[in-house]
Amino acid sequence: MSRDKLNTRRSTVTLHMVSSLDGFIAKKDNSVSWLDGAGSVYEAGVSISEEEAAAFVKSNDCYVMGSRTYEHALELGWPYGDTPVIVVSGREWPPARKSVEFCSGDLRAFVDVKLSPRYRNIWLVGGATLGQRFLELGLVDEIRLTLAPVLLGEGLRLFGGSLTEERWNLKNVVAYKNGFVELLYSAPVA
Ligand SMILES: NC(=O)c1ccc[n+]([C@@H]2O[C@H](COP(=O)([O-])OP(=O)(O)OC[C@H]3O[C@@H](n4cnc5c(N)ncnc54)[C@H](OP(=O)(O)O)[C@@H]3O)[C@@H](O)[C@H]2O)c1
Repeated sequence: MSRDKLNTRRSTVTLHMVSSLDGFIAKKDNSVSWLDGAGSVYEAGVSISEEEAAAFVKSNDCYVMGSRTYEHALELGWPYGDTPVIVVSGREWPPARKSVEFCSGDLRAFVDVKLSPRYRNIWLVGGATLGQRFLELGLVDEIRLTLAPVLLGEGLRLFGGSLTEERWNLKNVVAYKNGFVELLYSAPVA
């Protein structure tokens, strides 16, 4: 299915990832201190309060993630509150919190039949494997990429490499006081 046909869906799928300057989204040991905002201050940047961040989390209708990202979120402390979370996995899982459900199978049918009729703002929060698969299938409407002001040297690459050339449209840029920069792109219309 072509992307323009996909864009007739009522919902928007936004892929949101945080990357290091050298293109990694996770360290080999999975530690996350590199995501902390501590460091030099970019005076012209903006900052958001914890309340604003929490309100933002609530404003999304659902979060979609791969099973490895889910496992990591459980380890770190659940950041999604009671907002529905759909975990993509081919495995059987023990009962989880009420807001979580597990799905497998064809991702296009998953988005068009299962997610789009129920949710308007669908946040795909990774990881690299699931994000890349969504992109390959043309299921992403927006990419919200946050660059962290750090070089990691090694780790899990943002995307693995089987994507084809495509020019996306810059919609917004937000620079934060802590040196992070958020880039918002919309998909090219075929
Ligand atoms: N910096 C960031 O913004 C960010 C964001 C998210 C995650 N992360 C980090 O990235 C790491 C995880 O990323 P990852 O790439 O290793 O894994 P992932 O994408 O989170 O999860 C991969 C798993 O998702 C399931 N899956 C993927 N595609 C599928 C499909 N088409 N059909 C069915 N199941 C599918 C499979 O689960 P089963 O094996 O269970 O079948 C697969 O093993 C973690 O360290 C996490 O903390 C970072």
